[in-house]
Amino acid sequence: MSEPALVALRGVSFAYDEGPVVLDGLDFAVPEGRALALLGRNGSGKTTLMRLLSGGLRPHTGQLTVQGRPVSYDRKGLTRLRTTVQLVVQDPDDQLFAASVAQDVSFGPLNLGLSDAEVRSRVAEALDALDIAALADRPTHLLSYGQRKRTAIAGAVAMRPRVLILDEPTAGLDPDGQERLLATLDALRARGTTVVMATHDVDLALRWADDAALLTPSGVRTGPAPTALARTDLLRQAGLRLPWGVAAAELLRAQGLLGESVAGPRTAEELAAVTATGAGPRG
Ligand SMILES: Nc1ncnc2c1ncn2[C@@H]1O[C@H](COP(=O)(O)OP(=O)(O)O)[C@@H](O)[C@H]1O
Ligand SMILES: [Mg+2]
Repeated sequence: MSEPALVALRGVSFAYDEGPVVLDGLDFAVPEGRALALLGRNGSGKTTLMRLLSGGLRPHTGQLTVQGRPVSYDRKGLTRLRTTVQLVVQDPDDQLFAASVAQDVSFGPLNLGLSDAEVRSRVAEALDALDIAALADRPTHLLSYGQRKRTAIAGAVAMRPRVLILDEPTAGLDPDGQERLLATLDALRARGTTVVMATHDVDLALRWADDAALLTPSGVRTGPAPTALARTDLLRQAGLRLPWGVAAAELLRAQGLLGESVAGPRTAEELAAVTATGAGPRG
């Protein structure tokens, strides 16, 4: 590994006041340009890890680094961090506070001291990216849950972060809302944003992520998603089940319908393609 990770936690331990240790000597790196899913059961520390990565919490021991340099938690250091990493919290109502959508999305860029013209252009770009330009003047309390979620993400996108971190972004969305969100995240990735998502949905992770990081009691284990999500031992430690795509691939291989070196299906469409051709959807 020649390039230092874009952001990383090194030997980080953390406990809440009077609570047990949540993370102990954790190493976690976000490489640039990879879609990374962070998986673990409820209470395993996903949200805590993300807040440590975005500077909202400070490690008790260990370090947060940006491109190999330790982050200083003074004004300058935190501004540098916020233009590199943005966290979208799970509940949009914890993030939204301004009267209108555009006002809310402009808050971060205004705080960076940018010119009015620059703020306006960033807000327009972010609303466009989230497909909510038509909602610009809408009061945030009149939005649907999905619209509030998009507004919260737009607020993060308006900071033009290199890493966008989303805590359980699909929770509470209907199937169509989930599909639209994944399409939006793909578009952001195509523009060069590194996207990290916390989820306990192994099927979503297999379908969406390049890499999967499993948060287990003995630390975090990261690898390419199709490999990491086929590790029954790690999944069990993390309190997660096998993704159905991996289970289907095992069945197909046992039936001689899928080659050993051919990737398994990640969606119902890919499963249909495997069974139609016998060759597999991805090679
Ligand atoms: N604000 C808090 N104060 C005290 N304990 C907390 C707080 N937030 C989370 N915890 C505890 O820290 C552990 C990890 O929680 P969290 O990071 O929210 O996990 P996850 O996001 O994976 O569900 C849990 O045991 C939880 O009860
Ligand atoms: Mg959480």
